[in-house]
Amino acid sequence: MRRALELAARGAGQVSPSPLVGCVVALDGGEIVGEGFYLYEGVKHAETLALEQAGERARGATAYVSLEPHAHQGRTPPCTVALIRAGVRRVVAPVEDPNPLVSGRGFAHLREAGLEVEVGLLAPEAARLNEKYVHAMRHARPFVHLKLATSLDGRIATRTGDARWITNEQSRARVHELRHEYDAILVGAGTAVADNPALTDRSRMPRHRPLTRVVLDDRLILSPDSQLAQTAAETPLVVFTSEGADEGAADALRARGVEIVRQPRGARDLSAALEELHRRTLQSVLVEGGATVAGRFIEAGLVDKVSFFIAPLIIGGRDAMPAVAGTGANLIADATRLRDVEITQHGSDVEITGYTETVTSDG
Ligand SMILES: NC(=O)c1ccc[n+]([C@@H]2O[C@H](COP(=O)([O-])OP(=O)(O)OC[C@H]3O[C@@H](n4cnc5c(N)ncnc54)[C@H](OP(=O)(O)O)[C@@H]3O)[C@@H](O)[C@H]2O)c1
Repeated sequence: MRRALELAARGAGQVSPSPLVGCVVALDGGEIVGEGFYLYEGVKHAETLALEQAGERARGATAYVSLEPHAHQGRTPPCTVALIRAGVRRVVAPVEDPNPLVSGRGFAHLREAGLEVEVGLLAPEAARLNEKYVHAMRHARPFVHLKLATSLDGRIATRTGDARWITNEQSRARVHELRHEYDAILVGAGTAVADNPALTDRSRMPRHRPLTRVVLDDRLILSPDSQLAQTAAETPLVVFTSEGADEGAADALRARGVEIVRQPRGARDLSAALEELHRRTLQSVLVEGGATVAGRFIEAGLVDKVSFFIAPLIIGGRDAMPAVAGTGANLIADATRLRDVEITQHGSDVEITGYTETVTSDG
């Protein structure tokens, strides 16, 4: 199963809106006779690839699949049929697929055909691997990951607004790997204007869909000459704004290929923005600031995962920008505390990643 999860992970960036799936076909002695993992463009499912490799040796073997095999006709024929036809004796899977079209039905189909089915092996690891897919399926909104780069004293910019670069090259390379895992990346208008970022995935790893860039901008202050707008023809850029925002400014951005989405309660309505991204089948959003946007997301309880990249430098000053604005907690007991924390070192920078208390790792 560990191998199946490892294989599944190779599809990162190349499966959304589908889940990551890996499959290993093994004989009773443990010999692996077939392996596969899913790629959206490849169309063939992990099970089919592993069974093709195993050929006749799949008869009587065990298939370890990282997610419940589907029993419905989608872009591909049901994987349960492929497993049954190949003569597999036993199927081991960690978790049910949360997709209502599939959930529980795949296991039921296999059992009806007389196959042994075991569920639960490495379930937490498998749920973690597909946390974005599982979350999007269960909550009908994307998984939200807040990422910020801070100084040792918790600042994300100096008092003049300078923020480049707080963290080192290794941390920044890691951020591109993170971007690669996400369907969308979001910033506030303040950051879009102050930093003029491109917000692209420069991981050099293949992706199935381009990274959708999102800006929250009620007054449409984003310039048509910004890097974001200038690259909108190649990489999608969606700007959420208010109904009253200037039509001339909207037209100038549209002329660059920017999509303007006017919301009745403006870009401040984060739930509506997330629902809109979900309608576009975007499973996950990496929120990269700034302080105002980070504060709003935290205070709305909409952050699922957090990564702070902390650099050993002190910016100082009462007016330097804190990482998270808004009102903040009154008491330490009310602060947003992380669990399942992982600490990684990138040269002299430290990455602290964890999940907010409100969300469980299985979504
Ligand atoms: N170190 C880091 O990781 C990092 C990351 C990002 C940014 N930064 C720095 O942070 C600074 C920018 O931060 P900021 O707080 O000024 O700006 P911000 O959070 O990027 O953007 C805030 C602005 O976005 C608009 N907005 C629209 N909808 C919003 C919503 N739902 N929630 C929040 N804002 C919404 C508001 O403009 P309206 O008033 O027009 O509605 C608001 O003033 C820059 O200096 C940048 O360099 C650092």
